[in-house]
Amino acid sequence: MNVTIRGEAVERLATEALVLGIFEGTRRLSGAARAVDRAAGGVIAAFLDRGDFTGKKDQVAVLYPRGRARAKRVILVGLGPEKELTPERVRQAAGRAVGKARELGVKELATVLHGAGKGGLDPEEAAHALVEGLLLANYSYDRYRTRNKDKNRPVRGFAIVEADEDKQAAVKRGAQRGRAHAEGVAFARDLCNAPSLDMTPSAVAEEALALHSEDAGVKVTVLDEPEIKKLKMGALLGVAKGSAQKPRFLVLEYQSADQPKASLCLVGKGITFDTGGISLKPADGMEKMKYDMSGGAAVLGVFHALRRLRPPAVRVVGLVPLTENMPGGNAIKPGDILTAANGMTIEVVNTDAEGRLILADALVHARRFKPDAVVDLATLTGAVVIALGSHAIGALGSDAKLLARVRESGERSGERTWELPMWPEYADLLKSDVADIKNAGIREAGTIQGAMFLAPFIEGFPWVHLDIAGTAWNDKDKPYAPKGSVGVGVRMLLDLIENWNAGPGIKA
Ligand code: BES
Ligand code: MN
Ligand code: ZN
Repeated sequence: MNVTIRGEAVERLATEALVLGIFEGTRRLSGAARAVDRAAGGVIAAFLDRGDFTGKKDQVAVLYPRGRARAKRVILVGLGPEKELTPERVRQAAGRAVGKARELGVKELATVLHGAGKGGLDPEEAAHALVEGLLLANYSYDRYRTRNKDKNRPVRGFAIVEADEDKQAAVKRGAQRGRAHAEGVAFARDLCNAPSLDMTPSAVAEEALALHSEDAGVKVTVLDEPEIKKLKMGALLGVAKGSAQKPRFLVLEYQSADQPKASLCLVGKGITFDTGGISLKPADGMEKMKYDMSGGAAVLGVFHALRRLRPPAVRVVGLVPLTENMPGGNAIKPGDILTAANGMTIEVVNTDAEGRLILADALVHARRFKPDAVVDLATLTGAVVIALGSHAIGALGSDAKLLARVRESGERSGERTWELPMWPEYADLLKSDVADIKNAGIREAGTIQGAMFLAPFIEGFPWVHLDIAGTAWNDKDKPYAPKGSVGVGVRMLLDLIENWNAGPGIKA
């Protein structure tokens, strides 16, 4: 996708459509809106005068300027109150504008920065948020459409208008970062929107291998079944037994060109389809379970972006256990006992609690990389959908400092987290009569039990578990995330990585 920075005066820019942001309650136009309004014979001011458009967030309107203005259309977007402007609001406003442009079939969209003047955002931050919003809203998945492909009409090129030469370098940096982030998200979305028939564990592994790049410091290793056996990952192998597809285990490593000061490990659940196994899920809505690899896809999306961003002084390891959860003739059955890579035995009372099984082996493996912190992402429980809906990721962990870091990255990126407790009382629910632990307990507090199950497999590093079952898939369009896979987690993890050395130390 092509994003350019244009230095001419905004009122003189010839374009199919120009986006202008308007703060709520604006009476007198200023900045770019004022310049365009003057050139266009006052159409914007007259329009605001009627009171139909107040600048409230989510408002969009299209005007057709006359006079000297050279934009064929002006798309006005509401930014909400000036005092409440955040990067998230910028992403949403950009998303609304793109939605309107696509509706109109506009191919080239020009926009001013939102919030870099009166809104108080610095130009780099404003450009970053703007480009993320534009590109993420422009996403569509039509790989499998053979008819009516143009129904979805994505915009083909974006221009950011910034006449102030002193700001242009910062705008360019922000735009490049925003683009790298958005393309990482799109990569993750593509993986989860693809049907499981085609996106099998071995197909995901191929996608991961394509990220390998010596130049960028990204190394990708794919472990196949014999190697997984050598590592004694009995829990992952157990889940894979029900499927005709062989499991895979991905190891991705990014190393900065300079000496790393810290090492982070990201672990993502990679169930390419979750039928529930012998504890079969109901048919209704089961087609969505192709997104049960969203955690793994987020990890791959992060590496896609790291290739571009190449952040200094950090090492990042990504681990993705991959398998289907199927009820084949060889499948594990309730009551079966598996042995994880650390030697712990697990009684499988419900084969549908498979995510925690494959994560257990991956978390044991994480220790080999001596990470300063580990974050895992998983569509682990239906319970987190009940608890938090689609607006927050469930966060649970053993380390208050790491939890705080994750929370801040979530707020900055607009992928917010909310904590649930991990008090020892909850661990009692997973006591087994025959093995060291069982994989499911009772219906209540399901998300907490998921995290409590994982905890004994953590040894020697601070850890946060993110339950993304409620946030990884949109049933309805959101301003910059259309229906389908969200690619959740990519941007918040990138924020965590890029800011890691800036914040206070995490090591105890
Ligand atoms: N992949 C599901 C969780 C899920 C549910 C994701 C809804 C997205 C939407 C997971 O493997 C699962 O089946 N969890 C069970 C656990 C239970 C059996 C302890 C659940 O949440 O019902
Ligand atoms: Mn399941
Ligand atoms: Zn699952």
